[in-house]
Amino acid sequence: MRLDRWLAVVAGLSRSQARSAIRSGQVQLQGQCVRQIAMQVDPGMQMRWQGSDHLFSESAQRYLMYHKPVGEVCSREDAHHPLVFDRWSVAEGQHLMTVGRLDCDTSGLLLLTTDGQWSQQLRKPGRHVKTYDVLLHNDLTEIMREQLLGGVELRGEAGRIQVCWLEQQGDRQVRMGVSEGRYHLVRRLWAAVGNHVVALHRSAIGAVVLDEQLAAGHWRDLREDEISLLDVSNSECSK
Ligand code: URA
Repeated sequence: MRLDRWLAVVAGLSRSQARSAIRSGQVQLQGQCVRQIAMQVDPGMQMRWQGSDHLFSESAQRYLMYHKPVGEVCSREDAHHPLVFDRWSVAEGQHLMTVGRLDCDTSGLLLLTTDGQWSQQLRKPGRHVKTYDVLLHNDLTEIMREQLLGGVELRGEAGRIQVCWLEQQGDRQVRMGVSEGRYHLVRRLWAAVGNHVVALHRSAIGAVVLDEQLAAGHWRDLREDEISLLDVSNSECSK
């Protein structure tokens, strides 16, 4: 793990606070002052920060990319459907949480972690634009496009929800970006403009794209570069 990420986790700092603490010489690794934020720490290494010593172990936080298939639910229990957590042993699964949710009928990129603070940061509205591939029941019309890009009112919700961007890929196939994570948001947006979602797949969160090598139902650890992209990726609602 990189030193800046470990410090952030241990000290409850944001990644940028951790970086400036390291750069300004406040952190010691193995008794030596270190200023390289990207230095790799290995199990057994000791870090001193603000008078406390911390030992790095492999049981440090986990950050996972999962290709959720249609049919699984993101809850802890469900009488009728398999859970995404069933992919891990009970011991491992109980420490994992999903970063936001995908509904049962939606497939695609789901992040899981043991790091509650990281998950909370990522779930903040507007933090990252999520990319969805959508198969519609009816053809996309210009009016629908204008409504979605201009902002749509959803029943029972305050304010208008705006789609960040929308690309037509076929008469009934679109790719779109939304920056919020409300319940069934994409399906409700299309229903509000008189269409219906037939199939929904999330292909990216911010700049992190679902690995093409990852078949549905499979997962892997996020790479350091992907975790960094989520820290700093552009949160603007544009493409
Ligand atoms: N919008 C939806 O409607 N469903 C999801 O799973 C995610 C976004």
